[in-house]
Amino acid sequence: MAARTFRRVSYNNKHYSVPVYALDDGCVRITPRSGALDPATLSSDERSAPLLGDLNRPFDVERFLVPHHPINVGVLSADEQRSFLAPGDARNVLDLPIKFPGSDFRLPMEYAQWAPVVQRIADAEWALNPTCYDEYYCYLTLRREHVEPGDQGHYAPCHVDGFQGARWQPKVRANHTYTVTNCLPTMYFPQSFDLRPLDLARHDAFWEMNRQVALTNAEHGWNDYPDFALMLMDAYCVHIAIDAARPYDRVWLRFSFEVRIFDRLGNGHNPFFAYDWPMVPRDIEQLGLVPFDPTCEASLRVFPWQALDGSPNPPGVYTKPNLRPR
Ligand SMILES: [Fe+2]
Repeated sequence: MAARTFRRVSYNNKHYSVPVYALDDGCVRITPRSGALDPATLSSDERSAPLLGDLNRPFDVERFLVPHHPINVGVLSADEQRSFLAPGDARNVLDLPIKFPGSDFRLPMEYAQWAPVVQRIADAEWALNPTCYDEYYCYLTLRREHVEPGDQGHYAPCHVDGFQGARWQPKVRANHTYTVTNCLPTMYFPQSFDLRPLDLARHDAFWEMNRQVALTNAEHGWNDYPDFALMLMDAYCVHIAIDAARPYDRVWLRFSFEVRIFDRLGNGHNPFFAYDWPMVPRDIEQLGLVPFDPTCEASLRVFPWQALDGSPNPPGVYTKPNLRPR
């Protein structure tokens, strides 16, 4: 096996270690198995879910008015779970393209233990999105992390993956994403969100999601699905990480289906595809957004790395939004 190296990337006080993969190590190539997932096995609620109706449509902020529930498209088998949890030296990575429009899936060899999961995702996508399967990129994020009680592992406000803010004009097809984890199931909020009054060039939509969840005292929060479930969400499924009640060793995989290139500096580069995207620094802080309601509780309108007065927290300290004020 070739020596493993990283590229170090830093901007805006954020630091990334981007794994560099050796062509000599090879990759696992995966194509979908037709018929491996029968959509008829989904519940009638799932088959009629707004999420499936919105698939392949352009992102539209009005769609937040309709509660969007994620869909459980299957649970890993015992063998797949064993492989999923196998210890090893695979490196965490952010938004590594593993499928291009029209291509197969190409998984760098160090992630071979998750090839069965990729196979399941390919099968699900083939079954649920047959008309536009070939038009999407798929990006892999892997996080293996130890989470202590009270921690979340990953801190973010209520949010969606694939929000298209003011700079995306015209809007393109909305993101849809599969996630799978062995513990700490993501909390979803299948409720109506009204983001129409916001000026998305000025207002932080995620802080507003915090606020609208807190208005309901988080009563729509839902994470009642099994560990190792393949959960499909879309760009209208508002969600947040949950606190650990005890220590966990967590493995979390995300597969984002997108028509856009993810060219953010810090993302993984897959040498098993020929491409050379100019990668750019990008984070939400640089947009200088403000809360839509500046009078709401302070925890709902600061970044996790900020204290309630907006000053930076000490390293390792994060502010969580108070979603249950009553
Ligand atoms: Fe997310």
